[in-house]
This record gives sequence, structure tokens and C-alpha cells, in this order.
Amino acid sequence: MKIIKTKIELSEWVAQARKEGHAITLIPTMGALHEGHLSLIHIGQKTGGKTVCSIFVNPTQFNDPEDLKKYPRPLEKDIGLLEEAGCDLLFLPEVAEMYPEDEAAWAINLGALDEVWEGAKRPGHYQGVTQIVYKLFEAVKPDYSVFGQKDLQQYLVIEELIRQKELPIELIMAPTVREPEGLAMSSRNVRLSPAGRKQALVLSQVLFHSETLLSAGHDLDQVRALALSQLEAAPGVRLEYFAICERSTLSEATEETPRDQLVILVAAWVEGVRLIDNVVLKK
Ligand code: PAJ
Repeated sequence: MKIIKTKIELSEWVAQARKEGHAITLIPTMGALHEGHLSLIHIGQKTGGKTVCSIFVNPTQFNDPEDLKKYPRPLEKDIGLLEEAGCDLLFLPEVAEMYPEDEAAWAINLGALDEVWEGAKRPGHYQGVTQIVYKLFEAVKPDYSVFGQKDLQQYLVIEELIRQKELPIELIMAPTVREPEGLAMSSRNVRLSPAGRKQALVLSQVLFHSETLLSAGHDLDQVRALALSQLEAAPGVRLEYFAICERSTLSEATEETPRDQLVILVAAWVEGVRLIDNVVLKK
């Protein structure tokens, strides 16, 4: 696997790959890779082109400086995992490479997506995410890019970025990869103790149970009330939100919303670690 740190070398590598007739698939990450990230690489490989993975802990999307400082950065291990996964290129820029001194201000109108759920709890987060992802899209000009369902709101935000900037990129959604007990994999999980990991299981348990009840036709209000009571009573868990939404806008669902267009969202703190998860109801 080739490792490149500058945008110039990156565009040369991409130009060569294109000359050889390869399509390009980009998988942006912040490193501390786990099986969730690796599944994105494998899904990307199915397009048949070259896979480019980026690792960049993007400072502009962290609204909490402590979270940025504590973000895990096991680089050698990440490189080994990417090699094993058969990734073709790792783009590994320094902060100054992505954010030069004369950086222009970035603003994009994401509408309600910037104001609900993660947008509300993490002000400026999606501005930072779109700022860096647009830079990566411009640097790589990929044909495909893979993002995880784990961060469904981020996926919808990237879809909106592609639409507004009229980018010729096909976005691919990768299903959420979970630990055997159900906890959604996340780079932040390494900060949980074994006891914290157990306490965090209630999130996926409540999501799956709510999914079953909703699919069986139970009232939204009833399902929401039961989930809230379970989450609020769970030891070690501080709930931020639990919501049943329409999956493409993330506006709160009503009884009129078709059941196969629902997504259930949850965000909570366990041992000072902020966890998010969601379940999309099956068609
Ligand atoms: P990061 O949290 O490293 O995630 C990189 C990609 O992996 C995202 O598309 C995310 O949805 C996906 N992912 C994470 N955990 C997953 C899991 N358990 N199953 C499936 N996919 C999973 O998301 C970011 O980085 C950043 O915001 C980024 C897009 C790189 C911009 O800085």
C-alpha cells in the first residue's frame, strides 16, 4: 500500500491510476480503525476500482477540545490493518496540508440536518465534516465514496453536499458493523472499560426491541415511552436523545409515516464517552 501525505502527490497518483483505466473509491476516516471501517474498504473494493482511504483527525469537526485531544491515534496498527484489507492508497495529511494559513471561511446551508439531533448537540460539527469531506472530494475526485450507516445523519449531510456542489460522485452506504453483543463499533469504544461496554449494550438492545415493536404495528408514542423509561433507568447511561424519525429528513415521525421509512436514533454518554447508534426499519 502506498502512503502519501501531500495533495500534489495524491493527485499525481490518482491521475496515473485513471490513466491505467481504474475508477477511484474514497473512504474517509479519522483512523483508530476497526472492523466497521474495514467493511467500508471491502464494500469499496466491490466497485472494482482503486481504493483510497484517508486518515485525518479533522480538528474543525470537534466541538469539544477534550474529545479532539483524547481521540485515539494508533497509526502503526491502522497501517497494518489497511495493508491486510488490500487498500491501495493511504492519504495521511498533516493539519497544515488540509488547512493552510490563508484558509477561506466555510459555510454550507444544510437546512434542518444541521439543526436536529447531532446537529443540535454538536453545533458546527457538520460544517466541519462537510468542510473536510469537500476538500477530500476535491483532492481525490473519486467516482465512489463509502460512508457508514452508523453515522446516518452524516451520510445524509454528505448526500446534501454532493447535491449542492453537483459532484459526480456515487455515494455508497455501508451497514453498521457491531460487536457480537450488539454494541455498534466505534473508535471511541476503546475508551470504555469492560463494565462500561456492558452498560452501553442497552442502547442497541432498546433500538432492536423498538424496531420489533414498530414493525409489529405498535404505536409510536407507546414505543417511545417504553424506550425512554428503559434508557433513563439504565445504570451508567446518560441519555441525550432517543427519537423515531423519517429516515431521509430525520424529522420526527408520525403515525402517518410509513413504517418502512422509519429510523430509530439514540445518543447517550457512558463513562464520559459519547455514543450514537441507529436502526433503520426493514422494508
Ligand atoms: P470515522 O468516525 O473514523 O468514520 C469513518 C467512516 O466509518 C464513516 O463513514 C463512519 O460512518 C464509518 N463507520 C464508523 N463506525 C462504523 C461501524 N460500526 N459500522 C459501519 N461503518 C462505520 O466519520 C468520520 O470518521 C469523519 O466524520 C469523516 C467522515 C472521516 C470526516 O472527518
